[in-house]
Parts: sequence; C-alpha cells; structure tokens
Amino acid sequence: MKTYRVGVVGCGGIAWGKHLPAHKRNPHTEVVAFCDIIEERAVNTAKEFGTKDAKTYTDYKEMFKAGGLDIVLVLTPNNMHCPITVAALDAGFHVLCEKPMAMNYAEAKEMLAARDRSGKQLSIGYQNRYRKDALYLKQLADDDFFGEIYYAEALAVRRRGVPTWGVFIDKEKQGGGPLIDIGTHALDLTLFTMNNYEPAYCVGRTFHKLNKQRNTGNAGGDWDVDKFTAEDSAFGFVVMKNGAVIYLKSSWALNIADPTEAITTVCGEKAGADMLHGLRLNTVMNGKQVMIEPDLNGGAILFYEGAGDNPEDLELATFLRAVSGEGKLYVTADQAAVVTRILEGIYESDRTGKPFYFD
Ligand SMILES: NC(=O)c1ccc[n+]([C@@H]2O[C@H](COP(=O)([O-])OP(=O)(O)OC[C@H]3O[C@@H](n4cnc5c(N)ncnc54)[C@H](O)[C@@H]3O)[C@@H](O)[C@H]2O)c1
Repeated sequence: MKTYRVGVVGCGGIAWGKHLPAHKRNPHTEVVAFCDIIEERAVNTAKEFGTKDAKTYTDYKEMFKAGGLDIVLVLTPNNMHCPITVAALDAGFHVLCEKPMAMNYAEAKEMLAARDRSGKQLSIGYQNRYRKDALYLKQLADDDFFGEIYYAEALAVRRRGVPTWGVFIDKEKQGGGPLIDIGTHALDLTLFTMNNYEPAYCVGRTFHKLNKQRNTGNAGGDWDVDKFTAEDSAFGFVVMKNGAVIYLKSSWALNIADPTEAITTVCGEKAGADMLHGLRLNTVMNGKQVMIEPDLNGGAILFYEGAGDNPEDLELATFLRAVSGEGKLYVTADQAAVVTRILEGIYESDRTGKPFYFD
C-alpha cells in the first residue's frame, strides 16, 4: 500500500483523541495539512502530529485549493460536515467524516450525491462497530444465530455526561443534543446488527428538563445554562417496514441509576443479545434458559489479517483498504444516511406532536 497524504479539518477533541493518534500508529499515512478556524489549534496540532513541512490553514477552501492530498478528515462541529465533505469530494479527495453524518437527511443526500459524482470513498466515524463485542455480535447476526430480529433497543443514556467543551450544547451548530450526538452511535450499531435500513415511521419526544440547572454533578463540570439550547434527553420508537421495532433512548443527563453508552439489545426468534453487562447471549437450550458470556479476549476476532484490535486503528485501516481498492468500507455513507434520516424523523415527530412517516 502506498503512503497516503492526509489533510485534517477541525483540530479539536476528536482529532487529538481518536484520529491523529491512529494516524501516528499507521505506517501508510502522513498528515500534511491542518485546518482550524482557530489558527493556534491548527499550528499546535501540526507540530504534534504533522510531517516536518506540514501546512496550516484557517480556511478549508484554501487547503483544498492548494491540493496535494489523497484523504480529508472532517472533524468539525456537525453543521460543517456537509459543506466541507462536499467540497473535499468535489476537489477529488476521499473523505472520512465524523458522526453524525449530517444535520439532517437533505444534507446527507447532498453528501451521497457528491460521493457518487466524485467516485471517491466516503465513510463516517462510527468506530463503535469495530469494538470486539460489536464485531462478534454482527458475525452472530449474519450467521442467523438470532433468527429474525424483531425487537431492539438502541441505548446511549448518561446520568450526567453533558459535553461542555466546543459547541455540543448549541442546537444551531450541532442539530440537537444527545440524540444526534450519542443516540446516533447506538442507532447505527442497532441497524447494522439487524441489517435493516428500511424505516416505516417513528414517534419521538425530546426533553429540556435539566439543562437550566446548576451544581449538576456533571462529569465535565457545570454547563453554561444560557448556551444549552439542545435537548438533554430524547426517546424514540421506530417501526421498520418489515414490522420490527426499535426503542431508542438517549440522554446526556437523566436521573437514572444505570447509564449505558452506545450499546444495543437485539431479540430474535432463536436468541437475543444485550451489552448491558458485557456481551450476553440469551437463549434456551434443552428446555432451560441460558445466558452465554463470550470470552472476547480469548482468541482473536479476526477482522482481517494484520490490523490491530482497537476500534480507531481498525476504522482507519479499513478505510485505507477501501481507498486502495484492496477492501470494502465497513461503514458506508448510505447506511449512515439512514441513521440521520431516522434521527431527523424523531426530531420531527417531537416538533409536530405526530408520528413521522418516512415515505
Ligand atoms: N466518534 C465519536 O465517538 C466522536 C466523539 C466526539 C466527537 N465526535 C464528533 O467530532 C466532531 C468534532 O467534535 P470535537 O469533540 O472534536 O469538537 P471540538 O469543539 O473539540 O473540535 C472541533 C474543532 O473544529 C474547529 N472548527 C469549527 N468550525 C470549523 C471550520 N469551519 N473549519 C475548520 N475548523 C473548524 C473548532 O475550532 C474546533 O477546534 C463532531 O461532529 C462530533 O460529533 C465524534
């Protein structure tokens, strides 16, 4: 595999915490361009993760015009995912864009159209799919261990875990709160495990009940109550065209005892699975109920030869294999667009007070 030249747009938390360390460990990339509207961030990030001659920018259009890139990472707040991704694809670069794909389904469709006209790869940062429990669950589902999955729960419920940095609590810039931020991971994992991308209708409710409180016990400290315009929790019920249902629960702040983060529960005719206390498979054997707890550390789950086993390394390695033509994407933009479509349906149902029908 050749060495790919990478440009980064957005040099904040997810760049430093996930993508750039993975690029540092991967021998097939060099990060040669860094863009952030805060110049100091671009410069500091280039110093830490860039090549010696890495260039820095405050305007992504200038970066794309300068060229010399193979891949662009879009790591900005959600409202910029669509315009930057479309510009990068149109400039002839492959794109890995962070989740959620877009603010709404119309934007997601613009991104798909840009991908199609460019012929480049577009993937979305749903790294939870590469967790060992998620990989094993997907293999079981594809091997028909569960039979037809007709009931699922997509769970991302924090007790007090409001992200207080950046613009996460700003509805205008992010499109919403926990539903679009972490509910998106849980729903993605659920749809992927079910292999069901055909929603019929949904109902949803969002709540702004705790976001004006102070002295909150929040993991990252108190939030700015004046800036917290997104919901603090959101719940949806999705009916798929084949009759299967998904209960989606998401919160950044909820008075609940047992938090969950980006997990799924699936129930089929033959067996079920949950991730509430590690991955558990629930079925009946010889007339008795049994619960199987797979040992995910004993023996490798071979995603493919040569890749490490942490989700961000696997995400990058898989993306590079698709870019090089040696493999296929594991997270397709078409799948991510359906996640965005359903999230929008839940917000719309909340806004109108009625069920939302997808066609
Ligand atoms: N995959 C995950 O689990 C995960 C986790 C956290 C965040 N994210 C996603 O990553 C994205 C960024 O989140 P973050 O935590 O890094 O936020 P952040 O606020 O820490 O960083 C975002 C950066 O983008 C910069 N920026 C804003 N507009 C820009 C523009 N037009 N051009 C260039 N730079 C711009 C900001 O100055 C900031 O430095 C969000 O979409 C979020 O949903 C994903």
